Amino acid sequence: MKSMNTNQPKVFIKTYGCQMNKLDSELSIGSLAKSGYAFAEEEKDADVILLNTCSVRDKAEHKVYSQLGSLRDQKEKNPELILGVLGCMAQNEGDRIFKRMPHVNLVCGTRMFSKLPELLEEINGTNKRIIAVDEDGEVSFDRLVTQRQNRYNAFVSVMRGCDNYCSYCIVPYVRGREFSRPVTDIIDEVKRLADDGCKEVTLLGQNVNSYGKGLNGEVTLATLLRKLDPIEGIERIRFVTSHPRDMTKEIIEAVGELPGVCEYLHMPAQSGSDKILERMRRQYTSAHYRELIEMAKSLVPDIKIASDFIVGFPGETEGDFEDTVKLLNDVRCQNSFIFKYSPRTGTAAAEFPDDVQEETKKGRNHILLDLHKKISTEENRKIVGKSVEVLVEGTSKSDAGRLSGRTRQNQIVAFDLPEGSNQAGISSLMSGKLVNIDIVDSTDLTLFGDLSEIAFDKMTH
Ligand code: SAH
Ligand code: SF4
Ligand code: F3S
Repeated sequence: MKSMNTNQPKVFIKTYGCQMNKLDSELSIGSLAKSGYAFAEEEKDADVILLNTCSVRDKAEHKVYSQLGSLRDQKEKNPELILGVLGCMAQNEGDRIFKRMPHVNLVCGTRMFSKLPELLEEINGTNKRIIAVDEDGEVSFDRLVTQRQNRYNAFVSVMRGCDNYCSYCIVPYVRGREFSRPVTDIIDEVKRLADDGCKEVTLLGQNVNSYGKGLNGEVTLATLLRKLDPIEGIERIRFVTSHPRDMTKEIIEAVGELPGVCEYLHMPAQSGSDKILERMRRQYTSAHYRELIEMAKSLVPDIKIASDFIVGFPGETEGDFEDTVKLLNDVRCQNSFIFKYSPRTGTAAAEFPDDVQEETKKGRNHILLDLHKKISTEENRKIVGKSVEVLVEGTSKSDAGRLSGRTRQNQIVAFDLPEGSNQAGISSLMSGKLVNIDIVDSTDLTLFGDLSEIAFDKMTH
């Protein structure tokens, strides 16, 4: 690595896993920027390569090991290169990473992110190997709001950790005990984001709807939403992920009543079978899940639901799986994230025999994916012919001739601009704005629209 005085060292961070990891990477970028680092666009130009990792399924860890393997050449050519593994897999694997990957310099767990600049400084020029996975380390929420991946939307952590110990899940082991962040800190951060041009915030927690537990006073997610909603400049508020056991009428009412809070709930069901839910230690029944969805749909008529499902959990019979299919069919989730069960060492379910054959897991995975595709295609088709509010994010990733953004219900909308218009100019003019788009076509994943002439005139004049 180059000396700090002569030239700014360049860092490249690659992020795996969930939104919490994306946020941690962003916070690290902020603290490294403060400490004088610059950022490389590509790995090959970096002096420091950091992988922020996930352990939730075996496949997630495999990906990182294979990525580390493929960085061996770069490290051999440039022994000064610092290679670090951060986050959940660093916490979970610890020095096994050093044993398997002798060219890795740093293993930095989920509660040591705030030490990153010091740790890198210590390694700089020495090729030392440091492991920092202290479980009592401090989680810092400190943020440089100007250092953000997206201009118009931002993640805001409202709590950390998880105490639920669902029997299949590694998260409580790698992220530690659940704790909520004080309301005033959250309000302050959201205000600073608004001042920096942010229009949409997504509140993050592994179990976001139990927010407030352990804080003094009557603080809940519902009261937090009511305090954040009036903040000037913030047009949309989302929150993920909700646990069905902790969902309350007050939260759903807040979603229905508050103009800024989006009509969108990510509330994983995991399974439709009560026997499996019990073995998963989820602490609700499929009937309770259905009641919550009914309440949400009656209090917030245009709400969309997203859910996660695990197929092939130990002991899942054909009948249990049918219950899951039925649940998805009845709830008609707009978005479903479907996973094959992956045993995680140290969790309670790892003690159960992993008795559903891989072929059966694959088959069930396909059946749910196909059903999800059918439902989201049908649900999206219902929006064709309607006008929806879109927060424009910029030029579409898949088609440079279009702009794209999201609806309040988190659906992606791609839309054409009027013919002959100056597309690049309009893209920058419209990004970050709320516009009404007429939906003319749809697939399972995307709504396609036209910007109405009226809306276009309003935007450009
Ligand atoms: N905190 C969130 C989810 C965290 S993990 C929540 O409780 O809703 C994201 C998803 O990964 C989970 O909802 C679950 O569906 C899936 N998952 C977790 N552990 C898994 C495992 N061992 N095998 C397969 N999928 C798993
Ligand atoms: Fe894992 Fe359950 Fe906690 Fe979600 S609520 S992070 S699935 S233990
Ligand atoms: Fe997220 Fe994966 Fe960690 S899902 S909390 S990055 S184990």
